[in-house]
Amino acid sequence: MPLKTLIEPENNLDQIWKVLTDEFEKACTVKRHSFRYVVLSTSNEGNVNSRWVVLRKFTANASFLIYTDARSEKVKEVQSNTSANILFYNDRKKLQVRVSGKVTIHQQNELTKKYWPGVKGASDKAYTTELAPGKLIENKEEGYRWSSSMDDAHFVILEVIPSEIEALQLNGEHHVRCQFVKKDTDWESSFMVP
Ligand SMILES: Cc1cc2nc3c(=O)[nH]c(=O)nc-3n(C[C@H](O)[C@H](O)[C@H](O)COP(=O)(O)O)c2cc1C
Repeated sequence: MPLKTLIEPENNLDQIWKVLTDEFEKACTVKRHSFRYVVLSTSNEGNVNSRWVVLRKFTANASFLIYTDARSEKVKEVQSNTSANILFYNDRKKLQVRVSGKVTIHQQNELTKKYWPGVKGASDKAYTTELAPGKLIENKEEGYRWSSSMDDAHFVILEVIPSEIEALQLNGEHHVRCQFVKKDTDWESSFMVP
């Protein structure tokens, strides 16, 4: 019988960490994984904005990579406030994960050069519109014009470097809630009252 939950009441914190990091990795490779689409929240001058994005990679250093257009609002927000939050939810397994951390913007550097070949020809249209994403237009056709070079000039990778990861596994009377807080290079973990 398939397990009802991903985190079991008998799991210790090391086991829970392994469950979470395995799920983050699988989200980027397994088709239709529930953590593939995540809510990224950023803020600017006291206003919070959330939007769905695709989680592209969970790295060996435990950071989260997201692709976007350099001209988008979210990039402007990150430029003025590097704090961000990523929200995950697995509806079938009733697992919520909240990640908070700081964002590094990568543009035309080693990291973007590494990933751009996988984007080029496949989804490069998302980062090469002639006009900036979010710009108000008179006619929607203006939004369907692409740059003649189709290059990586506006391709950005947002690297969310987590400082805290909190999980909540709903499970009847035995919900499990815990947090992992980064202290220098280590993660300090603790259970919490759900
Ligand atoms: C399922 C889904 C996945 C999306 N993935 C991305 C993504 O990976 N990167 C991105 O920049 N926008 C993505 N978007 C669009 C964003 O939600 C958003 O509308 C857009 O990036 C503009 O956001 P901003 O104005 O806050 O920058 C996605 C939207 C949906 C519905």
